[in-house]
Amino acid sequence: MSVLFQTGKLCLYKKCLKTSFCKYVFLRKASDVPRQFVSFDEIVAQRRAEARRSLVVQVNSESSFTELYGYCSKYATVNDIHHYKNSGGEHFMLIECSTEENLKDVLQNCSSHQKDLDVMAVPSPFLWFRAAPGKEKYPVTTRSLAVKDGCNKVDEDALYEELLNCGTVSDQIQLLYDRTVLNDLGIRLRYMVARQLEVIFSSLYANIAIQPFGSSVNGFGKMGCDLDLVLTNALTNEMTAANRRLVYQEKKTEGGRSPWQRHMELVAALLELRAPGAARVQRVLHARVPIVKYAHDMTDLDCDLCYNNTSGVYMSELLYLLGSMDNRVRPLVLAVRRWARAVTLTCAQPGRWITNFPLTLLVLFFLQQQRLLPSVRQLVQLARKGDIRIAEDNLNCTFLRDASRLPAASRGDHNLQTLLMQFFEYYAQFDFQDKAISVYEGNPVRKPNALPLYIVNPLEQALNVSRNVSYEELERLRLEVRNAAWQLEAGLEGKKGDDWGILGLIEQRSTRSLKKLLRVGNSHRLVSVKDLFNDKEDDPNSTEIKSKVQRLSKTEKDNVNELKDSVVKDEKNSQNVKEKQTQSMKYKNTQVRNEVNRIRRGKIV
Ligand code: CTP
Ligand code: MG
Repeated sequence: MSVLFQTGKLCLYKKCLKTSFCKYVFLRKASDVPRQFVSFDEIVAQRRAEARRSLVVQVNSESSFTELYGYCSKYATVNDIHHYKNSGGEHFMLIECSTEENLKDVLQNCSSHQKDLDVMAVPSPFLWFRAAPGKEKYPVTTRSLAVKDGCNKVDEDALYEELLNCGTVSDQIQLLYDRTVLNDLGIRLRYMVARQLEVIFSSLYANIAIQPFGSSVNGFGKMGCDLDLVLTNALTNEMTAANRRLVYQEKKTEGGRSPWQRHMELVAALLELRAPGAARVQRVLHARVPIVKYAHDMTDLDCDLCYNNTSGVYMSELLYLLGSMDNRVRPLVLAVRRWARAVTLTCAQPGRWITNFPLTLLVLFFLQQQRLLPSVRQLVQLARKGDIRIAEDNLNCTFLRDASRLPAASRGDHNLQTLLMQFFEYYAQFDFQDKAISVYEGNPVRKPNALPLYIVNPLEQALNVSRNVSYEELERLRLEVRNAAWQLEAGLEGKKGDDWGILGLIEQRSTRSLKKLLRVGNSHRLVSVKDLFNDKEDDPNSTEIKSKVQRLSKTEKDNVNELKDSVVKDEKNSQNVKEKQTQSMKYKNTQVRNEVNRIRRGKIV
């Protein structure tokens, strides 16, 4: 996504000094004065327009570019062509035409039938490029692919090496962000999947919009993140204006169940029957927010489609806004998300553990404590007429949308390393027992009930977004933040080891142990399968590796025992820490304490 802010001169907002928001507001440094802010609505409109003039075409290989470019140029002006492969090794090209009209011209010249197949063709922006029946010549072009292999998975070994060679922990955090954040093509494809459904459903539903939300658009998504989609009634004031006297007749749904549950059933059936690329459709219709899950094979995306959850979109906007206010926010959030995954605090499946969304709120809340971000209450107070938004069930989602209207603030000059360390320390000491985390207030508030973890929903304050989290998982969170703080601090002293800085925090523990076993000599290089079969006796590397392997096989038992010992030690340490925590922990009443102890007894931490 493009740069959001342009910076300008030092400025002083005298007027705002009178407001409560400005307790900590003085001057903004020249480097972080936002002059031009691109709002969430503007970005969404730009991405949706881009998708309306784009196509995804399956091709034979990246060398199909010249032919595809030549062929499409007969009908349209092509802006750019981006290439990627899906996990099945199939090649695709996303073509962006210069206008929607251009795209219509290309589509009008599509073939919709395959003679031998008994299928009903479907108009969708996903196509394939048939081999030419004869020799076709296209003018020679100097153009080339805008991107080749644009959706390749991050090469973890290469990333590890790069992180190893960083100068500081802050550089590591920034590099991790740069290498793993969802890229432009990833965002384009997500909007294409949304567009595909919009095109398919538009013959049945008038004025609908399908919009990505969640980490695909809030700035905290990583490459390969899931795609959350919402189907909404995209009614404008014009469409409902009383002077439009001809009105569509409506179909009232009869029957006991909620009409939207039935619509979602229909949507699921359409996905199965009419959406090319959609597979493994699952209906989860009895949840609080009914969803249809499916996999989109051509783009390798796991999608969750829900209906009319506009508050989810506004929440994404709020997160986008907070992430845009300072360029340290997103790298920090991604580092914390990655660490949480590595220590298995988060997990792909839903359960009684924390998920990425509340975890992100924990980071934002911590940054509010550092006076780096304003509270949501302050954003609400600064809202203007154009910021008014009402979501489903009359939920008020009004807050300041334009970050450049925020009074200038001194946001401190802590670097990413310090912020990460302080994040762990902050939550290692946080009073989860009595306090709730409120991004709305920007301060801890009293917990209204005895649920283990209470993170107030910033748009609907009566709700706790972490109500699913169990006592055990909260305990694990507390333990892991302590471990992480200790590990990060220990890693800063002395020589840089191969798990220095964030490396020790973001690698899966199992991977780390395996790497310990396979390391070559004192270097950071690992034994590769190729090295193991290298027969050249005079190659010093090869000799070293072989003796290493021999030593490994001899000492494998010792190593395994050592590993086991260290695991047992770790467990004992954890147990000690846990016991200490248990001793020092205060409970609301004996009933709660007995309940916590009962749950803990059956649990290995
Ligand atoms: N959301 C919400 N209230 C919740 C849970 C989710 O408003 N209690 C909204 C948020 O906007 C969130 C989005 O739904 O970003 C999608 O939720 P989820 O997929 O769980 O989180 P993501 O931020 O998309 O993270 P991930 O990358 O793990 O999918
Ligand atoms: Mg998501």
